Amino acid sequence: MEKKTILTGDRPTGKLHLGHYVGSLKNRVRLQDEYRCFFIIADLHTLTTKPGKEDIEKIADNAREMVLDYLACGIDPARSSVYLQSAVPEIYELALYFQNLVTVPRLQRVPSLKDMAQNAGIEEMPYGLLGYPVLQAADILLPRAHLVPVGKDNESHVEVTREIAKRFNFLYGEVFPIPDVLVGEVPTLVGTDGKAKMSKSLGNVIYLSDDAKTVEKKVGGMYTDPNRISADVPGTVEGNPVFEYHDVFNPNKAEVEDLKVRYRAGKVGDVEVKQKLSKAINTFLDPLRERREQFSGQGGLVDEVIFDGTQAMRAEARVTLTAVRKAMGIGSVWNRISRKAEDVKKKKEKTGS
Ligand code: TRP
Repeated sequence: MEKKTILTGDRPTGKLHLGHYVGSLKNRVRLQDEYRCFFIIADLHTLTTKPGKEDIEKIADNAREMVLDYLACGIDPARSSVYLQSAVPEIYELALYFQNLVTVPRLQRVPSLKDMAQNAGIEEMPYGLLGYPVLQAADILLPRAHLVPVGKDNESHVEVTREIAKRFNFLYGEVFPIPDVLVGEVPTLVGTDGKAKMSKSLGNVIYLSDDAKTVEKKVGGMYTDPNRISADVPGTVEGNPVFEYHDVFNPNKAEVEDLKVRYRAGKVGDVEVKQKLSKAINTFLDPLRERREQFSGQGGLVDEVIFDGTQAMRAEARVTLTAVRKAMGIGSVWNRISRKAEDVKKKKEKTGS
């Protein structure tokens, strides 16, 4: 049977962190064999909040950094295509067709957009930012994807995509599959400061590229149970970010259980709990560090990966847009007019008038 298709990716705003890994990257690496995979470097999406020239200038380096993180995680360019969104012009065209298949009030109800505007200090919603999920629908449906592994915050965008795909198929005929969303086992990872979400803009992240010393420092400064002023006071495990991380990153379940029991009883210090956590995170990151080293040592490799992936997506895009234009009948408008015009021109040539 032919493989189904995955499409997902990230905006190139810099380095990726542990939240990205558990929310989406882990699924991508795991599903590389089962699915045909395309990973987008969504640089057009960065324009929705950062359209300045100085921001655009940073895209290339940010993209390289991000793809290096992908490779470090185990995304394999021999099996998966990583491509640059702005270099595939069919996306712009498809997004424009999709703009007519969704209403403004529907987009105004997408919760993440208001957060994005707020984080970027934007007072009034730009047209492009309101259209963010529409552009994302074009990304997802361009390779006719079946599955979209993303973090929790992107779930509502995939919902918009499903609605657009259904609407398109209803109006013009079956062109697109209705893609499913796949959210990671840990849909939202808390920040090191205990805030709801690990997020670069909140400055509460552990990067996949952090070295061992940095991890120790960040874990050492993590928010824990604020009511616990000394090691002999019984502490709370539930909702405590240090223990949430232990649950996710420490494979030694017996050790985690023992720490929890002693923490609740007031029989372990924060220092020990945190030391064991940084050890677990560093053990998890060590193979990523090794691969990162390997790939960054080969100059230009990342650029070649993006180049090849973009060629693969361009081929895919041509196939889809041919089907889309045919289904809509939009291509035949020009065909009819240009054929007639050619006829007229030929006749004129013959008669010399
Ligand atoms: N919206 C994603 C983010 O939060 C980036 C993105 C753009 C994306 N296009 C996509 C994710 C298509 C999945 C599928 O960064």
